[in-house]
Amino acid sequence: MRTLRAIGSAGGAAKAARAVADFGFDAAIDYTAGDVAGQLGTLAPEGIDVYIDLVGGEHLEAALGALRRNGRVAIVGAISGYNATGPVRGPANFYRTLPRRLSLRGMIVSDHADRTSEYVERATGWLADGSLRAENTVVEGLENAPAAFLSLFRGANTGKLLVRLGG
Ligand SMILES: NC(=O)c1ccc[n+]([C@@H]2O[C@H](COP(=O)([O-])OP(=O)(O)OC[C@H]3O[C@@H](n4cnc5c(N)ncnc54)[C@H](OP(=O)(O)O)[C@@H]3O)[C@@H](O)[C@H]2O)c1
Repeated sequence: MRTLRAIGSAGGAAKAARAVADFGFDAAIDYTAGDVAGQLGTLAPEGIDVYIDLVGGEHLEAALGALRRNGRVAIVGAISGYNATGPVRGPANFYRTLPRRLSLRGMIVSDHADRTSEYVERATGWLADGSLRAENTVVEGLENAPAAFLSLFRGANTGKLLVRLGG
């Protein structure tokens, strides 16, 4: 039986190291170092079974190249394209969905709103017992919200980026 592993992706060597040391990933890509597909191939030479896509673009293309037969993709976000000023190119290897028999499905959190209280209860327990670790980057003041929002696209935050409204 294969050992299951989780591979993350973060911007910068320090964040990638923290993904492993502090947040429970078995390995992590530093996407700012380039060649995401090559890095993924090194970390998962036998391929991957599941990809949770928050990024789109090069990450999705790398995942489609690495997914094994009957692999699954949850399409959750596409942040790499949000600031594009022109059309965003789709993955050049989309055809791999056919020979690999891949399944791609969009996921919107509000579709599961009826389970919010269940999630809050369970996640509260995970946070309390340390099995789920979270970190926030907090920016003070509504007047700094636009700059904080733009900083998301530079990866200036670690964890969830929050704006605290003036008290
Ligand atoms: N489907 C849904 O219901 C749903 C709900 C909420 C959010 N989302 C989506 O989920 C994703 C994450 O949202 P979030 O609110 O959780 O944001 P977040 O935790 O603040 O994460 C944003 C992170 O995206 C990374 N990033 C930015 N530009 C990137 C790029 N070009 N390539 C690779 N990574 C990049 C940066 O990571 P580093 O700091 O490591 O560089 C940044 O910190 C977004 O795509 C968002 O639209 C989906």
